Amino acid sequence: MCGIVGIASNKSVSANIVNSLKKLEYRGYDSAGLATLSNNLINEKKCSGRVEQLEKILFKAPAEGNLGIGHVRWATHGIPNEINAHPHSSEIVSVVHNGIIENSNNLKNQLEKKGLKFKSQTDTEVITLLLTEELKNKSPLDAVHETLKKLEGSFALGIIFKNFKDMIIGARRGSPLAVGYSTNENYLGSDSYALKSMTNKISYLDDGDICVLTKDNVEFYDFRKKKINKKVLLLSDDKNIAHKGDYKNFMSKEIFEQPIAIKNCINEYIDKSRDEINFYNFPIKPDSIDKIILVGCGTAYHSCLVAKYWFEEFTSLTVEADVASEFRYRNLKFNKNSLYLFVSQSGETADTAAALDLCKKNGVKTCSIVNVVESSIARNSDWVLPIHAGPEIGVASTKAFTGQMLLLYMLSLKIGNLRGDIERKYYQTKIINLKKLPDLLQNSLKTEDKIQLVAKDFLKSKGSMFLGRGFSFPIALEGALKLKELSYLHAEGYPAGEMKHGPLALIEDGLPVIVISPNDKYFQKTISNMQEVIARGGKILLITDSNDSVISENIRFKINLPHIEKSLSPFLTTIPLQLLAYHVALLKKCDIDKPRNLAKSVTVE
Ligand code: F6R
Repeated sequence: MCGIVGIASNKSVSANIVNSLKKLEYRGYDSAGLATLSNNLINEKKCSGRVEQLEKILFKAPAEGNLGIGHVRWATHGIPNEINAHPHSSEIVSVVHNGIIENSNNLKNQLEKKGLKFKSQTDTEVITLLLTEELKNKSPLDAVHETLKKLEGSFALGIIFKNFKDMIIGARRGSPLAVGYSTNENYLGSDSYALKSMTNKISYLDDGDICVLTKDNVEFYDFRKKKINKKVLLLSDDKNIAHKGDYKNFMSKEIFEQPIAIKNCINEYIDKSRDEINFYNFPIKPDSIDKIILVGCGTAYHSCLVAKYWFEEFTSLTVEADVASEFRYRNLKFNKNSLYLFVSQSGETADTAAALDLCKKNGVKTCSIVNVVESSIARNSDWVLPIHAGPEIGVASTKAFTGQMLLLYMLSLKIGNLRGDIERKYYQTKIINLKKLPDLLQNSLKTEDKIQLVAKDFLKSKGSMFLGRGFSFPIALEGALKLKELSYLHAEGYPAGEMKHGPLALIEDGLPVIVISPNDKYFQKTISNMQEVIARGGKILLITDSNDSVISENIRFKINLPHIEKSLSPFLTTIPLQLLAYHVALLKKCDIDKPRNLAKSVTVE
């Protein structure tokens, strides 16, 4: 992860570097730093903690200079303290780095044998010292080129040189990097989002590329140091980007934006007059698809798990769902007729991107479902389906999850329809019902008042369990993940039917157990599992749209959801679980938008 920004300008850069770093905090926020060039000196400022802290330091001791690089860190090598914060500078060169240098220990030993001393515990400092050595007899570009040859692993780099007061060099292998253009000013950034407030003209580096920026010019080189040209792309204008409005934090804004985000996505893909889903340019003719393989990480993976049930219901296809970090290392048999679907909000998740690359190398067709359309995963896929959720800033994914589910729901229906696996009438009824979803989501958000009461129960508990069957099993996993990441409470998601095979032993007096049981074919079975938990002292929060009176006995809280057609229930049952995680975290005074140890975009393995 980590975020990088660099600015070459004809005016002072530190304030703009700080502003861009604030936007990049979603990539890491355990330490921050910048380096500028002034009076022929590298001026380095860094700290542990947030960019806010760096801003305070700069207020007291400004960093002058018209050229600089900045960094927000998500620690991999070395604890998040000031010394390990980036940039890592020697007297003549300063480096910011995103990624992991896998052979850093070997390189470090070699450099130490030469008598060089390391200040930090990071892998990045190896790059600084290698460059310092190379710069003794080489130009900056040659020194960078030689240094990159020695590095194994993944990186995006921003580098400035004491003796070149109008030059930033950037390089990428495995981790994303973009260049932005303006008048008398050019930029380097981990992604377009970091640069959006300064320019709408950008180019992306490909793996192996190096760029050399001055305030008036940008040159690109490939891994052989051959000069190359890059396409300049115009970024879309997200006017409401990164404003919390009246909300306390981004997460609550994003939870409450779900009805509108879902409506936008429906409007993008559904032709309402014909009740038709518009997906064109399938990379494989739907008739010829023999299998669907869904890949993602974390919350995105949970959307894949829900989609497995939909594809199985609406198509005659075999479906697999896999976490990207496992998929990429499995001994897979690739099949040209299988459709490989990659789900990622950011489109930059390293494991998902690597799984996609693996598919490309094996010559199979890939489709990505992303929120960030300018992302690496989107650019590398044969077919891209954006979820149109708008920027998601809170680290915990909420509106992107429901957006991913919506896209996968529509795709499974469309493929089922095109293959003739479901009847046209059935297909169109599903679409008519889908159009009601935004209003039903809006109603589900009204459960917030009751959820606020429920949240208090969690403050005294050691942990909790989330149970469901069918579609509600992956929703249980997602509910548990949200609670863990936001409130740091142990939570486990389980298929309700599996409890008796072990986890029932965990149930003791007062343990909160969240049972997700919409009125579907599993309803009675889940309720029986719930009774088994009640009999052992579990304190139940039941989430359902059933009015069955039998189930109200011995339940501590019941959250009533609006009725919805059964296959759409995952959208509604998700809402109270997001609200629950949010309110428990709020009561515990946790940092809602930036939970500890996490980052929004996970660009390391
Ligand atoms: C959890 C969460 C993460 C992400 C995961 C994948 O709330 O946000 O589990 O879902 O890191 O990220 P993307 O979707 O960007 O690939």
